[in-house]
Amino acid sequence: MKDDNVVWHECLVHREDRNSLNNHRSGLVWFTGLSASGKSTLAHNVEKELHARGIRTYVLDGDNVRHGLNSNLGFSAEDRKENIRRIGEVAKLMVDAGLVVFTAFISPYREDRDAVRRLFGEDHFYEIYVRCSLEECERRDPKGLYKKARAGIIKNYTGVSAPYEAPETPEFVIDTEDLCLEDSVKGVIEFLCGKGLI
Ligand code: ADX
Repeated sequence: MKDDNVVWHECLVHREDRNSLNNHRSGLVWFTGLSASGKSTLAHNVEKELHARGIRTYVLDGDNVRHGLNSNLGFSAEDRKENIRRIGEVAKLMVDAGLVVFTAFISPYREDRDAVRRLFGEDHFYEIYVRCSLEECERRDPKGLYKKARAGIIKNYTGVSAPYEAPETPEFVIDTEDLCLEDSVKGVIEFLCGKGLI
């Protein structure tokens, strides 16, 4: 809990100033979807394209962040909530620092994603649902984790023994089951251009 004696210190340089210096806006692009739906692949490939265009970017990736900042968290609903809360706060700092930030977390609970949305203004948060059926994700199973989850070796696995609440009104949907990577990346970039973020 925040102590009452902690007082906010006003900055002298603001997000708008950093945006002007960078010559582009900053914002958070939040990818959500089942494990193996393609969130990380999409985030990293979109980032690569934007970087090549001179845009300052960063990807926060679930598997990577769980090695460091969130290494003390597991996969209970409570831990996932804290995972997403911390990422929302870190992303907010990064957006304030002037970056276009991409996050690739399953983020299975609507309530947790909406809490992040509330941290951001309307022009700075874009939820993208990376849609892919459970059957296809299980077929891909790049890390063999679905197999372990079906065998009961991994508990609380999203889609198998833990819920995934699909977004009801995301800003954008990418169907990775039907689209190849190149078209998915193109789709996301077109969407971000359309929103005026890039
Ligand atoms: S989230 O639900 O809290 O948003 P996050 O995106 O950080 O999840 O981590 C998901 C990754 O952790 C998966 O891609 C998978 O590699 C790994 N993982 C390990 N155990 C689980 C589990 N029980 N449920 C989902 N993912 C798991």
